[in-house]
Formats: sequence, C-alpha cells, structure tokens
Amino acid sequence: MLYSEKVLDHFSNPRNVGEIEDADGVGEIGNAKCGDIMKMYLKIDENTITDVKFKTFGCGAAVATSSMATELIKGKSIDDALKLTNQAVVEALDGLPAVKIHCSVLAEQAVRAALSDYYTKQGIDPVPIVGEIKVPEEE
Ligand code: FES
Repeated sequence: MLYSEKVLDHFSNPRNVGEIEDADGVGEIGNAKCGDIMKMYLKIDENTITDVKFKTFGCGAAVATSSMATELIKGKSIDDALKLTNQAVVEALDGLPAVKIHCSVLAEQAVRAALSDYYTKQGIDPVPIVGEIKVPEEE
C-alpha cells in the first residue's frame, strides 16, 4: 500500500476544514511546481491556538498533511506550533511516499505563514520569531 491508513483517513475525512472569518492569523502558501495551495486560519488567545481551520486546493497528501497539521497545533501554544516540523506531520501520518514529502513541507510552512501574519497584525516583526517563509520546491 502506497499510503498509510492514517493518510487515507485524513484525506477522505479531513479535520478542521473551512475558514475562520475573524482569524487572528491567516497564511497562504503555494508550490509553484505542482500548483497546490494551502490556506491556514488561526484563532489565538493569549499564546494558545484556540481554533484552526484550513483550505487546501491540492493533492491528497496536501489535504492529509494540512488536516494532520491542524490537529497537531490545535489547543497548543504558539511555541509548540512554531516547533511543528514537516517530519512530525509525516510521522503522525505513519509516513508518506518520498515524492509526497514536499506536500508536508507546504503544511508546515502554511502554519508558519499564519503565525507570521498574526505577529504582523500585532505590529511585531515576525522574522526573528518565525523566520523567513520558504516556499517548498517539489522534489
Ligand atoms: Fe504538491 Fe502535494 S503534489 S502539495
């Protein structure tokens, strides 16, 4: 089987799909090569991510990784969300085929882009905290 049960589950039944109208941070990231786009919405209350939603226009792995990424950061602190790596998303999904690893990078970067937007909205320069947002290249 190319995809794990968890990937198939998060693809066919993605968690936290949608938009947050009054989001505190919104991040959108796209991969120019495959053309997939992810948009992440965060609600943040005193350093805690109280709600998160996403919209992904992309492949099945992009949907599954964004779904898993939202599950991994929901209810967590901003610090924890900043530590979320694409490897952690892949592990939580019990692995991804090598050609699909870039999809998990998109999920990681979408979270970071939303956190950058949150800091920008607070009048804080996000780069020292979040770093530069890297648009992942397809491998
Ligand atoms: Fe590009 Fe999955 S094929 S995000």
